[in-house]
Amino acid sequence: MTAPGLTTKQAPFIEEVQSRGEIYIRQPYELYSEENQETWRQLYKRIRPRWEKYAHPKFMEGVRNLALDPHAVPRLENINQFLQPLSNFRAKAVSGYVPAYVFFECLKNREFPTTITIRDGKTLDYLPEPDIFHDVAGHVPMHTDRTFADVLVRFGQVAECVAEMVQGIPDEHERMRRLDSIIKGMARFFWFTVEFGLMRTNEGLKVYGSGLLSSYGEIEHVLESPEVQRYPFQLEWVVNQYFEIHHYQPLVYIVEGFDHLYEEVARLEAWIKDGKLDNLSPGEPNVSEEDLRSFLEAKKEHPVGA
Ligand SMILES: [Fe+2]
Repeated sequence: MTAPGLTTKQAPFIEEVQSRGEIYIRQPYELYSEENQETWRQLYKRIRPRWEKYAHPKFMEGVRNLALDPHAVPRLENINQFLQPLSNFRAKAVSGYVPAYVFFECLKNREFPTTITIRDGKTLDYLPEPDIFHDVAGHVPMHTDRTFADVLVRFGQVAECVAEMVQGIPDEHERMRRLDSIIKGMARFFWFTVEFGLMRTNEGLKVYGSGLLSSYGEIEHVLESPEVQRYPFQLEWVVNQYFEIHHYQPLVYIVEGFDHLYEEVARLEAWIKDGKLDNLSPGEPNVSEEDLRSFLEAKKEHPVGA
C-alpha cells in the first residue's frame, strides 16, 4: 500500500487538523509521498511551455524570482524567503476552506491562505477545489509584483468596509439580503480578475488569472478558442455576471494593466458604499451561511483600534 501522503481529499493529516477546527496549520513536508512529488513534476513539466506562450510577463518574472522548483513540491518557507522582500506578501498554510471574510482579512494582512495538499496524480486536469499547484504555481508568482499584491490588499480593505457597513443595518432581513448580494458581487469580481483575468500587454493578450495559470487545458483555450468571449473589463457587467466552475469559462474580461485593476477595486468599494451592489442579478456563486456569518462577526473578534 502506498503512503497516504498529502493528496487532496485523502490526507489523514488534513482530516485531523480540520476535526480540531484548525484553519492555519504547518506544512508537514515530510508527509508528501513520492506519488505527490511525481504529480508536482508532471503538472509543472506540462504547463511550463504554455506559461511561456500565454502567461503575463510579470508572472514569468515571479516564477523566476521565487525559484519555483520544477522537481519538488515547494516548501512555503522557502517561497516566502523570496517573496517577502519583493512585496512583503507571504503564503500561509491552511487546512482547506477559509470563510470569505477570514480569507479577505488575510489578504489585507498581506498573507495568502495557501492549500498544501496536491491533487491525485490520476486527475491532473481538473479538480474543483484548490491544491498547492493552483495556489503556489498559479497564484503566488503574481504576488511578487507590488501593484498586484496591493490589489489583493485593497480587496481585503473592501471586505473590511463591507463588514462595517452591513453591521450598521438595523433590520436583520435587509442586512442579510444586502450582504448576500455584496459578497456575490465581490466573489464575481475576484473570479473574473484574480482567478480568470486577461491583461492587455505589448505582446498581446496575456493571462494573469490563477485559475487559468494552473490549468494546462484552459490557459490555451482561453486565448486560442473562437468560442471564448473576451471583453474589456466593465464593472457593471462583472458584478452581475454569474459564473460556473465546472467547465471552461465562455466569457472573460480584459484589464489594461495592474494600475487599471487597482482602480477597479477602488471603484468597487465606491460602488458598494453607494449601494450599487445591493441588488445584483441572482445566480452563481451561492453565498454560504458560513461566509455570511464571517462578515457579520468580523469586528466582534477584532474591534476597531484593538
Ligand atoms: Fe484560486
